[in-house]
Amino acid sequence: MNILVTGGAGFIGSAVVRHLINDTEHRVMNLDKLTYAGNTESLASVAGSDRYQFSQTDICDRPALDALFADFQPDIIMHLAAESHVDRSIEGPADFIETNIVGTYQLLEAARTYWGQLSGDKRASFRFHHISTDEVYGDLEGTDDLFTETTPYAPSSPYSASKASSDHLVRAWHRTFGLPVVLTNCSNNYGPYHFPEKLIPHMILNALAGKALPVYGKGNQIRDWLYVEDHARALVLVATTAAVGETYNIGGHNEKQNIEVVHTLCELLEELHPEKPAGIAEYKELITFVKDRPGHDLRYAIDASKIAADLGWKPQETFETGLRKTVQWYLENPDWWQRVLDGDYRLDRIGEDKGAA
Ligand SMILES: NC(=O)c1ccc[n+]([C@@H]2O[C@H](COP(=O)([O-])OP(=O)(O)OC[C@H]3O[C@@H](n4cnc5c(N)ncnc54)[C@H](O)[C@@H]3O)[C@@H](O)[C@H]2O)c1
Repeated sequence: MNILVTGGAGFIGSAVVRHLINDTEHRVMNLDKLTYAGNTESLASVAGSDRYQFSQTDICDRPALDALFADFQPDIIMHLAAESHVDRSIEGPADFIETNIVGTYQLLEAARTYWGQLSGDKRASFRFHHISTDEVYGDLEGTDDLFTETTPYAPSSPYSASKASSDHLVRAWHRTFGLPVVLTNCSNNYGPYHFPEKLIPHMILNALAGKALPVYGKGNQIRDWLYVEDHARALVLVATTAAVGETYNIGGHNEKQNIEVVHTLCELLEELHPEKPAGIAEYKELITFVKDRPGHDLRYAIDASKIAADLGWKPQETFETGLRKTVQWYLENPDWWQRVLDGDYRLDRIGEDKGAA
C-alpha cells in the first residue's frame, strides 16, 4: 500500500516510518514541514530505500496537499504532524492552534476531496488514521481509574485542547461526510531519537553534562510510559486492520511518578556510564525541584485492553528493558543529539529553572 505519514521526521513519526520500511512492504511518503522538532537524520537508516519519499510540506498548505495526494495516491494517511510540547504551548499557543487544529482541518478536507474521487476497492479500503494523545482526557481523579475510549474529554493545556479539537474534527468528518477514519490516543512515549526537551532525554543529557535535573513540583506526577517502537507497531496495526470509525487507546501499563523515572535514569547511568562529570559523586545529587507547570495534570493512565482484545496488540518492552535501551541509545549516539543541541534547540531555551515533560 501507499502510506502517507505526516510528521514523519518527528519522534514517533520517524519510528513509524522506520518500522514501515524495515518490517513491511508498504511504500511511504513522509510529509513534514521540518519545524524545530523535525529531524531527517532520524531517518538516515531508511532514506535510501526505493519505497521511501520525503516532501517538506506544511499540512496547512492545501494546494500542496492536493498536489501530493494526486501524485502519491495514498491508500492510508497516518496523521502525526503536530506541535507536541506542552511547555511551548503555554509560552506560545498560536502554532498549536494553527498546526493541530487548522492543519488537521486542511488535511481532512484534502483527504475528503481525494477520497471522493476514488472508486472500487481503493475507495473502500482508504483510511485516515488520526494519532492523538491521552492528554485529551485531562486529569485522572481516583488512583485506580484508567482512561478508556469512552472517557469524556477534559483537556487542561493549550496543547491537549488543540489535540482534543482535532479529534473532534476527525470524528465529525466521519459522521458528517463518511470519511473512513480511525483514531488512537496514546500515553507518554519514550525511546531513541526523542527530542531533548522531553523529560527522559532531557534528564539523560543534563546528567551527562553535569547539569541540574529539574523536576517539576514534587515530581509526583504519574505518567503511563510506552516504548516508541511498541507504539509504532500498534499504529501500523490499527491503520491497516482496524474497522472504520474505531478508536483505540494505546498504553504501556507502566505507571511511574516522574521522580521515580528520574531516579531510575540516575541508577542506569551509574551502571552504564560511571564516568561522571568532575565534582559529581552520584548522578542523583543533580536532582533539583522547580516550580510546577501551571495546569499540570497529576495522573494519566491508559486502559489498553480494547486494542489487545480486538487486534491482539501488546507491548514487547517493559519499562525496565525499554529505558535501558533508551539510555544505551543516547550513550551510543552522541552525534545525533549533539547536532540537535547545536542547532535551533538549546537546553537553556527550556532553562535550568524549568522542568520537562
Ligand atoms: N510524544 C508523545 O509522548 C505522544 C504521546 C501521544 C500522542 N502523541 C502525538 O503523536 C504525534 C507525534 O508526536 P511526536 O512526539 O513525534 O511529535 P514531534 O514534535 O517529535 O514531531 C512532530 C513532527 O511534526 C512536524 N510538523 C509540525 N508542524 C507541522 C506542519 N504544520 N506541517 C507538517 N509537519 C509539521 C514536525 O516537523 C515534526 O517532525 C503528535 O500528534 C502527538 O500529539 C505524542
